[in-house]
Amino acid sequence: MAMPVVTFDPAADRVGDPTITTPWLVDAQLDAASCVPEEGTGAYETLRAYGAKPLRQQRIPREYFRMDAVERDARIWALRRELGDRLVILGHHYQRDEVIQFADYRGDSYKLSQLAAAQNEAEFVLFCGVHFMAESADILTSPRQKVILPNLEAGCSMADMAKGDDVEAAWRAIGRAGVDLDTVIPVTYMNSTAELKAFCGRNGGIVCTSSNASRVYDWAFERGEKIMFFPDEHLGRNTGVAKGIPEDRMVVWDPFQPMGGLTAGQLRDATVILWKGYCSVHARFSVEQIETARAEHPGVNVIVHPECRLEVVQAADSAGSTEFIIDTITAAPAGTVWAVGTEINLVNRLNAELPDKEIFCLDPVVCPCSTMYRVHPSYILWTLEHLVEDEVVNQITVDPTVAREALVALDRMLAVP
Ligand code: 13P
Ligand code: SF4
Repeated sequence: MAMPVVTFDPAADRVGDPTITTPWLVDAQLDAASCVPEEGTGAYETLRAYGAKPLRQQRIPREYFRMDAVERDARIWALRRELGDRLVILGHHYQRDEVIQFADYRGDSYKLSQLAAAQNEAEFVLFCGVHFMAESADILTSPRQKVILPNLEAGCSMADMAKGDDVEAAWRAIGRAGVDLDTVIPVTYMNSTAELKAFCGRNGGIVCTSSNASRVYDWAFERGEKIMFFPDEHLGRNTGVAKGIPEDRMVVWDPFQPMGGLTAGQLRDATVILWKGYCSVHARFSVEQIETARAEHPGVNVIVHPECRLEVVQAADSAGSTEFIIDTITAAPAGTVWAVGTEINLVNRLNAELPDKEIFCLDPVVCPCSTMYRVHPSYILWTLEHLVEDEVVNQITVDPTVAREALVALDRMLAVP
C-alpha cells in the first residue's frame, strides 16, 4: 500500500474565485446532489449528547431553500466580496459541488487543520465540513477568530461512536487489567470530539488523520509499547498491518461489552487496542466490488480510503486520504481507469475535472456522506447575511480547558515530520 505524502502551499491551494472554471458545476450527473437537507434529523441532539457545546441549532427560514439557485449563488458571491479578507471559507473534499465552489481552500482533514492554523488574519472561518473539523479549527485559530459551521447538524457518525466517558472508562479498565498505562499511547483519529483530543493531550497521546497515521504510529511507538486507537477500528488496523504488526496483536474494544469484550490477558498481550467504530460510507465498500471492477475494466486501478475494511484495502492497488487519492489520480497518465472507494461527491468531481481519465465509484449505489451533505448553499447565504450585520451565528466554541488539552495533542500531530 503506497503511503501518502501531502504537500501544503496555502497560496497555491487557494481556489475560491468565481472566475475559475468549475466543470463539475455544469455536469448534469450532479443534479441530484442539489436537494435540500432534512432538518430535525436528531443529529444535533446526538452531537450535544456527545459533548458538543454550547450549540444552538437554528432553523433557517424556508424561503432560503426555495430561492432560485442562480440568485442564491450571486448573493453569496456578493456577500463574500463584501466580507473580503475578514472571512475565509474552508471546504472538505466531500462537500457537494454547490458548496465547494465557494471554498477559498479545499483539502482533506489534515490539510484543513494546517490551513486553519495558518489563518492569522481572517476574523471569521466558515468551515464547510463536519463538526469535528470545525472544533479543531476553533482550537487551532486564535481566540479573536470565530469558526462557523453553516449547519450545526453536520456531524460525523463515526466521531459519535466514541464518547468521552466511555473512552475514560475503557482506559481505567485497561489499567485495572494489569496494563501499565504509562506504556500506552492514546491516539485519536481527527474524526473525534474535542473531548477525546483533550484526553489524548493530557495522557501523552496525539491526534492523527488518514494522511499521517503511519508517521503518528512511529511517534507513538517511540514513546510507548502499546497504542489505544479510537474511534475508527479500520484506519487503526490498516495502519498497524502496514507497519507489520500481526493482526492477532490488534484487539477490538467494544464499548457495549463488559471489559470491551476482552480478557485481561488479551489486553496485556495486545500491541494495538482498537475502538469498535467505523464510517458508514467506507464500510460499504467490498472485495466483491473490487473483483467486479477488475472483471469489467481490465487494467483498472483501484484506490480506496483507509477507513475501508482491511480486506478491501488489501485487495486495492493503493489506499490513502482524500488528498492522496486526488494527487495520485491527477498525476496518473491520460487514458488510465480508476475505481475509487470513497465518498461520491469527490469521485464525481474528480471525474469531471480529469476528463482524460475514466474515474468511477467502486460502489454503484454509494450514497453521499449524509452528514457532510447537510451543508447546503442556503446555510452559507444565511450565515453570511448575518456576518455582514456583525451577527455571528452557528459559531463553534470549544470549552477553554478542553481546547487547551486538545491543542497539545493537535500540536504534537502538526509537529510530526
Ligand atoms: P480525510 O482525512 O481523508 O479528509 O478523511 C476525512 C473523512 O471524514 C473521511 O471519511
Ligand atoms: Fe464521518 Fe464517514 Fe462522513 Fe467521513 S465520510 S465525515 S468518517 S461519516
